[in-house]
Amino acid sequence: MKIRSEIIGCGSYLPERCVSNDELSKTVDTNDEWIRSRSGIEQRYIAAEGEFTSDLALAASRRALEHAGIDASEIDLVICATTTPDNTFPSTATKVQHKLGMTNGAAFDIQAVCSGFVYGLATADNFIRCGQAKTVLLIGAETFSRILDWTDRSTCVLFGDGAGAVVIRGAEQETGSNGKGHNSGRGILSTHIHSDGSNYDILYVDGGPSSTQTVGHLRMNGREVFRHAVTNLASIVDEALIANNLDRSDIDWLVPHQANKRIIDSTAKKLGMSQDKVVLTVDKHANTSAASIPLALDTAVKDGRIKRGDLLLLEAMGGGLTWGAGLVRW
Ligand code: ACO
Repeated sequence: MKIRSEIIGCGSYLPERCVSNDELSKTVDTNDEWIRSRSGIEQRYIAAEGEFTSDLALAASRRALEHAGIDASEIDLVICATTTPDNTFPSTATKVQHKLGMTNGAAFDIQAVCSGFVYGLATADNFIRCGQAKTVLLIGAETFSRILDWTDRSTCVLFGDGAGAVVIRGAEQETGSNGKGHNSGRGILSTHIHSDGSNYDILYVDGGPSSTQTVGHLRMNGREVFRHAVTNLASIVDEALIANNLDRSDIDWLVPHQANKRIIDSTAKKLGMSQDKVVLTVDKHANTSAASIPLALDTAVKDGRIKRGDLLLLEAMGGGLTWGAGLVRW
């Protein structure tokens, strides 16, 4: 018997205000055609004044707990992947823990920008398989609108706000002595994370508590990020498949980080996957950083595309650079 981390529920939340490309064009020197053709984005959601990352995280978490059919008191670890916490400290995870009425367990944030959810998945899986946590609430939540330079049209049109969450629980599963049972059971089969700090300056925020005592704004060399994303995502996908002795054709759904449709198309092409096996939400949500994978996952689970037993490949790349993947049997 082995402990396997099973995702038993998911949920997501988007702010009320939806801003189309056309609406954005009224205040930013841009147009729908440019944004659509370069990124696939049609609209994004923007948090209301006074609505914080923890509020989005809480709403997504409540939905995930409801979907899992469990009470917050059963959670013993809350992990929040975010680059846009309410405050420098305490962590947004502790705020969510409190708002859920939890007085038990532990809570912390993870900072891996757009790869945050995959980093969180790896962390949750390891805590569970080591026996240090039984049931983890993993959240990806962002208010990226607050760190955008709205005078920089090359970046501000690409991002949005939102949150997604999953409940992950350890379950004992039988594994065959030849290891063949490994891939058929439900849960997280493996996670793979990487970083390379040498490219920190192609995607970063030009402020912070220690350096400028300000929050700062997102800065990006789009072309360089694009180039690294295509290369790193292709290699991480292969790494995940090889580790599990699986073929590209075994994957039922690609659930990628939603940065840019062209990056997603390129990864799908390398996998030989048709568009109808790729969960695409970047058109409606834009890039919500750490929230994008759980938002996409929840969308495809709730509309019935992702079914029990399906094999999902989750992958992301973000600032750092950081990148990673997870294979999950739903
Ligand atoms: N509207 C209209 N014109 C614009 C806009 C805009 N919003 N932004 C830039 N332009 C103009 C520029 O001024 C420039 O004009 P010029 O040629 O007259 O100087 C021109 O468009 C630049 O266009 P391209 O070079 O064709 O831009 P490119 O094809 O490189 O696309 C983009 C830019 C979309 C940022 C692309 O590089 C990209 O997708 N990079 C990946 C970045 C990404 O997805 N980051 C997300 C965060 S990282 C992550 O999550 C993985």
